[in-house]
Amino acid sequence: MTSGDDKTGRTLSELSVSRPDQIAPLFAEVRVRFDAESNQAHDETTWKHFRDAWLGRKSGVLTQITDNWLKPASPELKRAVGAALNGLRAHVEAKIEERRAAVEAGVESTALARERVDLSLPGVIRPVGSHHLIRQVFQEVEDIFVSIGFSVVEGPEIETPYYNFEALNIPEFHPVRDDMDTFYLELPKGAPEPLLLRTHTSPMQIRTMEKRQPPVRVIVPGKVYRRDNPDATHSFIFHQVEGLAVDSDITFCDFTGTIEYFVKQFFGPGVKTRFRPSYFPFTEPSVEFDVSCIFCGGSGTAAGGGTCSKCKGAGWIELFGAGMVDPAVYGFVNYDAKKVSGFAFGMGIDRLAMLRYGIDDIQVFFQNDVRFLRQFP
Ligand code: FA5
Repeated sequence: MTSGDDKTGRTLSELSVSRPDQIAPLFAEVRVRFDAESNQAHDETTWKHFRDAWLGRKSGVLTQITDNWLKPASPELKRAVGAALNGLRAHVEAKIEERRAAVEAGVESTALARERVDLSLPGVIRPVGSHHLIRQVFQEVEDIFVSIGFSVVEGPEIETPYYNFEALNIPEFHPVRDDMDTFYLELPKGAPEPLLLRTHTSPMQIRTMEKRQPPVRVIVPGKVYRRDNPDATHSFIFHQVEGLAVDSDITFCDFTGTIEYFVKQFFGPGVKTRFRPSYFPFTEPSVEFDVSCIFCGGSGTAAGGGTCSKCKGAGWIELFGAGMVDPAVYGFVNYDAKKVSGFAFGMGIDRLAMLRYGIDDIQVFFQNDVRFLRQFP
C-alpha cells in the first residue's frame, strides 16, 4: 500500500513544480495510485489499513499533500493545489465509503453462505427415548387407582426418624427396625435431628393425614432405600406405591374389594388372590397379599415339569403388605380413632413389574442396558 517514498512526501519546489498547469498531472498520478490500492481493500482489516493510509490525520496521504504541497505552495500555485486537493478528497472519501459497504456486504454474504440450510440433505436422526419400565408401571398403577377416586401425592426421600418410624408406631429399639435398616445422612455436629433415606413410602401416610382431614384417599409412588444386599429380588434402592384410605366407615371389605379390583385390572381377570396374616406396627390387623403365580398358573409346577422356580412350588407369590390403619397411628395425626377407620398398603413396584413382565432379576432395572430397555418402548 501507500509508502512514504512517493511524491507526496516532498514539497512542490523539491518536485520542481512551479506552474499551475503542472498541478493536475501531479494529482492525477496520486489518484491512479489511490484507485489501484482501493481494489486491494477486500476485507475489514485491509480496508481499515487502506482508510488510515489515505485519511489518517497524522500521516495519511491527504494530510501529507496538505502539509507538503498546499501549505508551503507559492500564492500563484495555492489556488490550483487547493482545488485539486478538494477534488481528490471528495473522490477518496467516496471511494473509501464505497469499499466499506462492499466489504460489509461481502462479510454478510460469506456468513449467509456458511449458514445456508440445505433442505435437500437428509435430516439428523435422533434416537427417541421412552419411559423406563418402572416409570411405566408406576403410571399404570396410578391410572388404576385414580380411576377409583384416589389422588396421587409425593413426598421426600430424605426423612426424619419420626416420620419413617416413630409416628408409624415404631418406637426406637422396636425389633421391626432391624428389617428396615437404612442409610443415615452424615450431618454437621449440632444438627437438630438425624436424617435418613426413607425405607418405605409409609411416612407419607403421616404427612398426608397431618395436612388433610378425612376422607383421605391417596397413593404415593416413590423411591425407597434399605441396606439390603442385592440379589435377584432385592435391591438397596427400589420403588413402592403406598396407598391410604381413611374415612368415617371404612371396613376390611372395602379394603379387599379395592385391592382385588386393582390386581384384576393390573394382572388380568384370571389371577387369584389371597391374604395371609402378617404384622406391621402401623396396621391392625395386618396382612400379606399374594397372587397366584402367573408363571405356573398357580400349580407350583413349571411348564416342562419340576418345581416352578418363581414361586418355589407354592403356587403363590407375595405382592405386598397391607392392613387396617392401627388406631395408635391416628393419635400421631390428631384424628379421632373412634370416628375414623381406614386401610393402607405398600407394594413393591419392581416386583410387580417383574411378575407382570416375567423378569427374573431385579438388577436389570438399574443397569440401564438399552437392549433391555428397548423391549419396553
Ligand atoms: C413395607 O415397606 C410397608 N411399609 C408396607 C405397608 C404399607 C404395610 C402400609 C402396611 C401398610 P415391606 O417391608 O414388606 O413393607 O415392603 C413392601 C414391599 O416392598 C415388599 O412386598 C416387596 O415387594 C418390596 N420390597 C421390600 N424390600 C425390597 C428390596 N430390598 N428390593 C425390592 N423390593 C423390596
